[in-house]
Amino acid sequence: MAVFAVVGAGLSGMTLARELEQAGHRCQVFEKSRGRGGRLATRRRDGWQADHGAQYFTVRSPEFQQEVDQWLARGWVAPWAVTPVVLDRDGVQPSPDEQTRYVGVPSMNAMVQGMSEGLDLFLQTRVDRLERVGRQWRLWDDQGEQYGQFDAVLLTAPLAQALALLPPGSQLEVPLRGTTAMLPCWAVAITFSEPTGIEADAAFVKAGVVNWLARDSSKPGRSAEPETWVAHFTAQWSANHLNASDSLLEQQCLAALRRLGQSELPSVTDRFKHRWLYARSGSANLLGEAYDANLAIGLAGDWTQGDRLEGAWRSGHRLAKTLIEHWAD
Ligand code: NAI
Repeated sequence: MAVFAVVGAGLSGMTLARELEQAGHRCQVFEKSRGRGGRLATRRRDGWQADHGAQYFTVRSPEFQQEVDQWLARGWVAPWAVTPVVLDRDGVQPSPDEQTRYVGVPSMNAMVQGMSEGLDLFLQTRVDRLERVGRQWRLWDDQGEQYGQFDAVLLTAPLAQALALLPPGSQLEVPLRGTTAMLPCWAVAITFSEPTGIEADAAFVKAGVVNWLARDSSKPGRSAEPETWVAHFTAQWSANHLNASDSLLEQQCLAALRRLGQSELPSVTDRFKHRWLYARSGSANLLGEAYDANLAIGLAGDWTQGDRLEGAWRSGHRLAKTLIEHWAD
């Protein structure tokens, strides 16, 4: 049996920790935020909620479908019956497809919550430093608390944060140098006093500064009232407006919704915004090797396997497999 430190309680970290524990190892999971799920995020407000991070996920491989079937059976996720449209310079274009899109229920991180049952989880604990002690690792948080010792440390934070913790001389640093920085994304959620009358539940927006609009209140397991919309902004605009004001974000979101509905909107009753500094990797680089056996350091995260939620799961699943094989003899 080995003892692992997992940094990050998003989907990749939780998949990794759960599979290692199921194989008889022990894990301690460290998360700087108050909640688990990472970019699988839902914020609750007075009488409403909205998913401000990942909006939905798709399934591309039979292997991941098997996993999602288990999540479905446990009631952690459900298909979202959405027929997206495209909103471009010429207006709204129908764009139906055969893609099944899933969401967590009642909130996006439901599967991460479910997987974390029984795991040793340290929330609001920001890992600051790794210390090698013989062939083991000790962790320090930003309050000077010490944890460990561990047989290996597994970093599942976004690229910049993982790089900051990666010990110098790790062979994993070389492929990372070719990986571009992760890109930001502003998200805005808005509720209306009355139904908007907008037909589509979601739009891929191909013109302007918003690139995604979704009626969050149309997702399964959510209340239909108040009508709630989420807008995501393009990476370029978000990068150029990292300090965008509430009113600018709201104006842009409402302008995009007016174009989608081709009419005026009821009054806004509540709103929140969220700035994701590390939303997507922006490169299709796949990290081949995720474990440095010399230093006992592993890497996982959606950015190591493409941008999708499936990539986050696959990265955790693959690293778990590598470690289970490594510690088998
Ligand atoms: P997907 O396969 O539904 O969509 C991938 C992309 O293909 C979409 O962004 C859209 O541009 C296009 N597309 C898909 N269906 C379309 C249709 N019916 N008509 C017109 N265009 C269509 O979903 P996938 O790849 O599983 O990703 C999940 C979602 O999360 C995507 O929308 C993706 O863009 C988004 N995402 C957003 C991030 C952010 O920071 N805002 C970060 C990572 C993913």
